[in-house]
Parts: sequence; C-alpha cells; structure tokens
Amino acid sequence: MSELHNIVLKILEKGKGILAADESTGTMTKRLNDVNVPSTPENRLLFREILFSSSSMIDCIGGVILYDETIKQQTSKKIKIPELISSMKSAPGIKVDTGAKVLAGSPEEKITEGLDGLRERLKEYYKLGAKFTKWRGVYTITKNFPSKLSIQSNAHALARYSALVQECRMVPIVEPEVLMDGDHSAKECYEKTSEVIKKCFEELILHKVDLKGIILKPNMILAGNKSKNIITNEEVAKLTLKCLKDSVPSEVPGIAFLSGGQSEIEATENLNLINKYNNTDFKMSYSFGRALQQSALKFWSKNIKDIEGTQKVFNHRARMNTLAAQGKWSKDLEV
Ligand code: 13P
Repeated sequence: MSELHNIVLKILEKGKGILAADESTGTMTKRLNDVNVPSTPENRLLFREILFSSSSMIDCIGGVILYDETIKQQTSKKIKIPELISSMKSAPGIKVDTGAKVLAGSPEEKITEGLDGLRERLKEYYKLGAKFTKWRGVYTITKNFPSKLSIQSNAHALARYSALVQECRMVPIVEPEVLMDGDHSAKECYEKTSEVIKKCFEELILHKVDLKGIILKPNMILAGNKSKNIITNEEVAKLTLKCLKDSVPSEVPGIAFLSGGQSEIEATENLNLINKYNNTDFKMSYSFGRALQQSALKFWSKNIKDIEGTQKVFNHRARMNTLAAQGKWSKDLEV
C-alpha cells in the first residue's frame, strides 16, 4: 500500500475526522472580533493550543489543518505545534493556497491563487512536519454562475496543486466548495456540485494525481441559505450520496465534508444520515471549521483562562461528529 494511501486511512480511521483550524489571520480576526477577543498572535495561539491539547484529539481528530502562522508557533511549554498535534496521534496539515482572488474574465467569480513558488513552500512545510495539505476553490451559484471559466480554471489549479503536493510526499485535500450563499434550490446545488467535481477529477487524472492518495473535501448538497425551498436532512443525505457516487471515481478512499455555514447540530445530523445511508465504499467523515469550533470559541471568549471548560465543549463536538461519521449519532446525545 502506498505511503500516501496509508496517511489517508490513518487520518480517517474509526470515524476520525479533521479539525480545520486554518483560518487566515484575517478570518481568525473576524471570528475573534465577533466574540470580543483581541486578535493578537498570542490569543490566536492560545485558543488553538487549547483545542489541540484536548483529550478528544486522540480518539476523534485524525488531522488538523493549520495556517502558516500556527505551524511555526510553539506552545506555552515550548513544544512546536506540529509536535503537539503528532503527540495526540493526529496528523499536522497545512493550508497552502494564498486565497481566492477576482477571476480575470469573470470578475464576479473567484480563482484560488498560490501556485507560484509552491514546490519550495511545500518542501518547507514537509520539514516542519506536515503530512497533508489543503487548497480550496470556491464557486457561487447564481443564474449564470459558476461559469465554465471558473469551473475549468479552479479545477486546473486544484490539479496542479495536488500533483505538486504528492511529489512532496504529502496528501492533498482537494476542496471545491460550492457555496451555500444564495436563494438557489438543492437541485441547482446538486447539478453545479456534480459539474464542479467531475471537472476536478478530469483535471486530477490529466495531471497524473494518484487518486488513492487524496482526500476530497466537498460541500453537502443543500438548498441556498436564502432559498424558500427547504429540504429535510434525509433529503440532504440522499442527494449528497447520489451526487458523490456519480461524480467521484471509486479509487478515492476518503471524503471529508466542510460545514460551510451550517449550524453545529445541522452539520452533525447531516453527516450522521450520510453515513447511515452510505451505499458506497468511500469513508465519509468531516473536516469542519466552524461546526467544530463555534461553541468552544464562544465559551472561551467569556473566560480565556478556562482551559478545561473550553476543552469540555470542544470534546463534546468532536465526539458527536466522530459518532456521526459512523452513523451512530442521535439527537438525545446532545443534551
Ligand atoms: P467550515 O467547516 O467552517 O466551512 O470550514 C472548513 C474549511 O476548511 C473551509 O475551507
């Protein structure tokens, strides 16, 4: 079995998922400002160190995605962050794109940048202990979007990124995120997501990426957050499974969903149903940012010295999601 395939299986073993703690400094500042905590490097580190040293890391979190600032930081006890994560039997990962910028030719859409100099940055991250990486392409649904241009160019970038990452012996997380923002129906989300994912795999194959050594990080199939046609969680799960079964090659070992603005419980409930009905060979787990951190951040912001209390909140969410990744979650466990 290849080294990369092994890394994927280890990250996603026994219902484990991924903690996406790779908010850029700008995004993290927004999150901290929302809860009235000053966004200093010390505070950003403090919150993350609390999460990374929580007991649920060992049983629930197979990998943590870091941002450039964090992967180079040390804990209060002078332990390097990637070492802390490895000591919790989890794999350190790193976001390597440099953000979504205006797409020339279709300025209402975005293209993710970061390919220039990527090989050199990857070598540095590998030396710092990274086992996997992340790159996010982002697509908006409107009447005319996502355009062919955005679908094609983001897929091309994701494939070039993935090939470079595998060359550097790390697992690429391939994240094409079709946003939930808008009044589109779940049917439109289904159609656009299928088109986006199919194009990504076309490019990944063209760039000779080993599909056994990647993790796909897609959105679930949801109605837009301004849509009047709300669908049930059961429908979300069934449409999501149908879409992925139809658009993802069977060699791909693992799929880890983003939460994309769903509430914590909603994301957990949908993941649970996806696993209950999973009629594919894909491991279906989570790579949540907000849906793993929201309650913990809110709790912590009230008393940033309460490490134990914050960890309790985080542990609960991580455990609920790991149960959901095995189809074993139920609502009564939430109280
Ligand atoms: P959310 O789960 O908050 O969508 O974040 C996941 C992520 O990594 C987005 O790139």
